[in-house]
Amino acid sequence: MQDLLKMADLSATETAQILQLSHTIKQRPSAYATALQGKSIALLFEKPSLRTRASFAAGINRLGGHSIYLDGANIMGSREPASDVGANLALWHDAIVARVYHQATLTELAEASPKPVVNALSDVCHPCQAMADLLTLQEQFGDLNSVQLTYIGDGNNVVQALMAGAALTGLNLQVITPSGYAPDPAITAAAQAQAQQSGAEITVLHDLSAASKTDVIYTDTWFSMGQERDSNQVMTDFAPYQVNSQLMKQLGAQYFMHCLPAYRGREVTPEVLDGPQSLVLQQAENRLHAQNAILVTLLAGV
Ligand code: CP
Ligand code: NVA
Repeated sequence: MQDLLKMADLSATETAQILQLSHTIKQRPSAYATALQGKSIALLFEKPSLRTRASFAAGINRLGGHSIYLDGANIMGSREPASDVGANLALWHDAIVARVYHQATLTELAEASPKPVVNALSDVCHPCQAMADLLTLQEQFGDLNSVQLTYIGDGNNVVQALMAGAALTGLNLQVITPSGYAPDPAITAAAQAQAQQSGAEITVLHDLSAASKTDVIYTDTWFSMGQERDSNQVMTDFAPYQVNSQLMKQLGAQYFMHCLPAYRGREVTPEVLDGPQSLVLQQAENRLHAQNAILVTLLAGV
């Protein structure tokens, strides 16, 4: 494993190992207090972030490493190409964690950098989020093979990472989006093909009334960073897909998940987001542990 650019780049074995290491690091942080000693990691962000930025910075510190934050929007593209940024950062840093508008920028960084590049969110995928979410589900349920997750909302980066993660781990995933907002068909097809090996069932539909019962409902914002869409149209198209108490009950969901930031009263109602069924803070906490496992895996022995 050289980089983590997309969840689907991982094998089932690598995914299982990273999840196992995430649990171990969470339970015994002191055993990893010097895992990144002497290492420096560049956090390069083109878009805003709370959880990803803060959890990487704190996590790297807990592993004995050092990080710096770089404003990617003012560095890449207009000032110099991503390839020059990647080649230069690799001279001083042991890894690059990058949040970018376009997945192609990650590829460009990785091709130019001999040091690992980690996707901290792109238009296509959010692997660090998916890993933390799988960790959260394992904590709640143990074996993922018997768990049914239902994602309701926009078919972009977060769910595309979850689809790959589900396919790799055997988690059953039902994706429900408004018509016209489905995940990339190539990503769906790849996840469904991978799922044949794990036994996961992955479906995509638009009709909420055709949804099966579920253990967990997951949603994300209707307005992703960097997307240019007609907001009135989005509000109209997504309104029937709001996660509220009635929908939780209708689908028999025990838990609610959201990557955050959340917009109360849009994709989710406050009583669900802030209620006892919500796992959102556990997910956010697990970002740090999952990311630390990813960094230790990428930098082990380097
Ligand atoms: N979930 C997530 O990636 O949050 P941030 O955008 O705050 O990093
Ligand atoms: N889909 C959201 C996720 C934020 C963590 C976005 O891309 O803005």
